[in-house]
Amino acid sequence: MTHTDSTRRPVGPPVLQSAEDISPVQPGDVVGRYRIAERIGAGGMAEVFRATMEGEWGYRKQVVLKLVLPELASNEEYVELFLDEARLTAALAHPNLPQTYELGVHHGRHFITMEYVHGLSLWKVVQRSRERRMLLPVDVSLKVVGQLLECLSYVHHATDETGGALNIVHRDVSPGNLIVTDEGAVKLLDFGIARARISEHRTAAGQVRGKMGYMSPEQCRGLAVDHRTDLYATGTLLYLLTVGLGPFEQRGDFFAMVQACAAGEFPKPRDLQPGLDPELERIILTALALRPEDRYESAGAMLDALDALALKLKIMPRTRGVAATLRELFPERPPPPPLRRRTSSRVMRSVTAPRPGSELATEPQNAAAPRASAPPPPPVPSASLMEEDDESSAMTTVDGFTPVATPRVFPTRRVAVITAVVVAVVLSLAAAIVAVTRPEPDNVPPPVPLKQFPEKKV
Ligand SMILES: Nc1ncnc2c1ncn2[C@@H]1O[C@H](COP(=O)(O)OP(=O)(O)O)[C@@H](O)[C@H]1O
Ligand SMILES: [Mg+2]
Repeated sequence: MTHTDSTRRPVGPPVLQSAEDISPVQPGDVVGRYRIAERIGAGGMAEVFRATMEGEWGYRKQVVLKLVLPELASNEEYVELFLDEARLTAALAHPNLPQTYELGVHHGRHFITMEYVHGLSLWKVVQRSRERRMLLPVDVSLKVVGQLLECLSYVHHATDETGGALNIVHRDVSPGNLIVTDEGAVKLLDFGIARARISEHRTAAGQVRGKMGYMSPEQCRGLAVDHRTDLYATGTLLYLLTVGLGPFEQRGDFFAMVQACAAGEFPKPRDLQPGLDPELERIILTALALRPEDRYESAGAMLDALDALALKLKIMPRTRGVAATLRELFPERPPPPPLRRRTSSRVMRSVTAPRPGSELATEPQNAAAPRASAPPPPPVPSASLMEEDDESSAMTTVDGFTPVATPRVFPTRRVAVITAVVVAVVLSLAAAIVAVTRPEPDNVPPPVPLKQFPEKKV
């Protein structure tokens, strides 16, 4: 068992320790009250473990333990950033943020423990859908981005105990810092480079931090940033999810990306995906405006625009739709506990995504340290359509790009609704008969073969 320093340290200077004096943490080691289970990730500043907190009477809780990298444990600037992350996230509580539990220090390495979020990073979801030559259904993309905006709205308006604005800007909104849970919830991670009133002195203008491909023009140029930088990054995500490529992904190299970003040069979404709804393109372009004052003024305003779009498209973005898509993309994942109703038809279609001209993919380089190797480019998909079951009500495809739901909450055509109900009842009965005669190993119905999707616009 390893020794752990006090985790109830009073306010004071951080503990700094040189890398040579630090032995690596292994599965089975005990750090504070936590036993390390496995290493689940590492970023520029910390390594991340799944760990278990064990108490008496069989109490066990899974947590994530984030430890400063050994080589940075003596770097005061990084350690202060890490402490900022801990102090900042401790002050926040929102359904789309993992809850922080504790800040401690173990053999000279500071650590944070937090809620373990069981799911997949959005980057993995994007990669898998590229492998499958698919785009996520628009309702799924809107739900993912909508949850992020709910979270950002909360974060941007967060206050301290006295009601003073904290002025938090995350600055690193990117697919690797978002986890999509099996239930379809999206959680924003990694406030490692977040800027807030309490840390302003350490994040002066002139420093470039963030991930290339998602950084705002002002961030690329090392200028001062505000909450609209996060809205820009959210725009790049919406672009990535609905176009299939990041806005700067076709640039030849890292510096070309920086240049294009600083100049606001990227292909319009509909140039790459002509079937994309014009209003969706308008929303993306507003979020990606070069000048912050031309973007949405707040996360709430952008969310309103997405809600209005969903209404116009007659789709209903829901977490269960996200969950169903995740099951579709990752059939190898163990199914979630059986707490859902029987499913009905849902459509997920493949699209003609552009082949990137670049070797760079969109979960790329940290600005400070570009990586040499690049993730695989997205495939060139064929135009086809795939059907999938989930818990949504009957779906009908109305545009040439994405499935569009006809949800129960839009009773515009009574006859259509009644017909849909009758069809649903008949299908449910048929499904029930099939379920009785041929039990499935899990709740996910078998995939339906791909179909050609007719070229048709709204
Ligand atoms: N609370 C969490 N639950 C599950 N996985 C997590 C959690 N926090 C981090 N991770 C995993 O660890 C990776 C790195 O964590 P992150 O906070 O982004 O660290 P860094 O600052 O080093 O980038 C994430 O991409 C994610 O896969
Ligand atoms: Mg990260």
